[in-house]
Amino acid sequence: MNFLENTHYLLSAKLLREKVPSFEEYPFNLEVVRNFESLEFHPKVTFIIGENGSGKSTLLEAIATTWGFNPEGGTKNFNFATRSSHSNLHEYFRLAKSFRKAKDGFFLRSESFYNVASNIDQLDEEPAFGPPIKNSYGRKSLHQQSHGESFFSLMTHRFDGKGLYILDEPEAALSPTRQMAMLSRIHQLVEQDSQFIIATHSPIILAYPQARIYEIKNGILHTREYTQTEHYSITKSFLNHYQEMTNQLLK
Ligand SMILES: Nc1ncnc2c1ncn2[C@@H]1O[C@H](COP(=O)(O)OP(=O)(O)OP(=O)(O)O)[C@@H](O)[C@H]1O
Ligand SMILES: [Mg+2]
Repeated sequence: MNFLENTHYLLSAKLLREKVPSFEEYPFNLEVVRNFESLEFHPKVTFIIGENGSGKSTLLEAIATTWGFNPEGGTKNFNFATRSSHSNLHEYFRLAKSFRKAKDGFFLRSESFYNVASNIDQLDEEPAFGPPIKNSYGRKSLHQQSHGESFFSLMTHRFDGKGLYILDEPEAALSPTRQMAMLSRIHQLVEQDSQFIIATHSPIILAYPQARIYEIKNGILHTREYTQTEHYSITKSFLNHYQEMTNQLLK
């Protein structure tokens, strides 16, 4: 593809392996980082899946931080810090970006979503010339909404299109019905020139068709079709045989 035809913002991420001082310490000691060379992003949606602890959040945080997001989440304007344990992987990452400029963006970490909500409330308490920030989050403090409601109103009201959205387990708070609603919201935003990078365990969200799926398996990133993933096959066989499976598991 001609580079002028690129429709996405983030093309690829590369690890500058020769600059890494040692692969013995976190985050460089993770198998997936030891083996990492580069990652090509899909123009629309890139999924990263894999077992708990395989390194999805570590990779996502490095990509998001290299892009310019606060490592704890939020937009590029968010600048709070509540913990100091971020990995320094981003210092060794290089991103290839297209000539297109993203107008919007958000990095969601489910574990620090509470702090993002607090930061919005705090900014709204300070005197400002503009309208309260929370207007774009559904006019109600995110703390006065349930976890799932607040995340959903963020996606509905705040995500604006022409953006790069990096989401770490966005399904965490969502009912299956809301996860399906999220699929259609992702699609609307994709149609409005947005790009997503999503770490997920949700077989529903993973079904989005205009996507590339990378599965971390034994520390290596493999490209998978949806129906080749464990998420699909395990969920399918569980639901089809839940009685036999629970009998087995509870023996
Ligand atoms: N600050 C840290 N210092 C040392 N080790 C860490 C740190 N943060 C994470 N790890 C380790 O790195 C590994 C990968 O963690 P990471 O959070 O990236 O996994 P993940 O794939 O996102 O898992 P999950 O699906 O449970 O969210 C884990 O084994 C974890 O214990
Ligand atoms: Mg994680």
